[in-house]
Amino acid sequence: MHKVTLKKAVFPVAGLGTRFLPATKAQPKEMLPVVDKPLIQYAVEEAYAAGIRHMIFVTGRNKRAIEDHFDTAYELETELEAAGKQELLELVRSMNPGDMDFSYVRQPRSLGLGHAVLCAEHLVGSEPFAVLLADDLMVGSPPVLAQMAVRFAELQQSVLAVQEVPAEHTRRYGIVAGESINPQLIRVTTIVEKPAAEVAPSRMGVAGRYILTPAVFRHIRKQPTGVGGEIQLTDGIAGLMAEESVYAYRYEGKRYDCGSKEGFLEATVELALQHAEVGEHFRNYLKNLQVV
Ligand code: UTP
Repeated sequence: MHKVTLKKAVFPVAGLGTRFLPATKAQPKEMLPVVDKPLIQYAVEEAYAAGIRHMIFVTGRNKRAIEDHFDTAYELETELEAAGKQELLELVRSMNPGDMDFSYVRQPRSLGLGHAVLCAEHLVGSEPFAVLLADDLMVGSPPVLAQMAVRFAELQQSVLAVQEVPAEHTRRYGIVAGESINPQLIRVTTIVEKPAAEVAPSRMGVAGRYILTPAVFRHIRKQPTGVGGEIQLTDGIAGLMAEESVYAYRYEGKRYDCGSKEGFLEATVELALQHAEVGEHFRNYLKNLQVV
């Protein structure tokens, strides 16, 4: 069988980010920095590490900063060069090593994650693709999407990243259940968006990383509006399961829900502690802080 490799990633960044108002009134939440890097850059680097070179952003109003962030910054580069700030110049240039393509498409209204993914259909075409939600900051070694890409290369079917979540949190996730293939892999037979703990089919929650086959577009298009008046990606995946196998992969690593203030703060503290430049200072600062 001819094996297909993963070349494209879709980053839906058209949400309103209401949980982060007022910070997100005039700027995208994906540009909020954890220590010194915007959330969207962590996600793009993760896709790059998985071998993906075509990055597709589904944007909305107020998202221009994301396009500018991945564009060449001539003025800045010229100034840094003139000032002899070589290290900073390399840092700015390293963001786009020159072998990446960036495409942008607009989602005219926030009609849900499924709808956002559908907006990228003409750019994805008939290939498998990854979806990364940048507000889920994933830390893993190897990076989480690279772990999933290995499974995709073997299975050639859709792979969803999952983790066990507390019973009281099932309402925040798409929840999957199915047949266990091995300790890390489940063949999904059920997927439900944000179920209450009493009716959740398991505690395996989908994190913001997906590898999907292009057949999913047809199934998203068929979906009526789902939970919360939005077109849900979960419902499209449920439709896909009737046609193809869909797998859930228990990734190795840690997820920070940076769409919430608590998760964002946890990511900031933990990544600051590991940061080469500020880590030691920050650790000493926390030691001396009389917090309790
Ligand atoms: P969220 O559920 O976190 O929604 O979307 P949100 O609107 O960004 O944030 P809150 O809840 O109002 O604070 C999950 C991901 O799907 C994208 C978001 O940008 C985020 O990455 N999304 C969501 C879209 O691109 N379009 C949509 O219509 C909805």
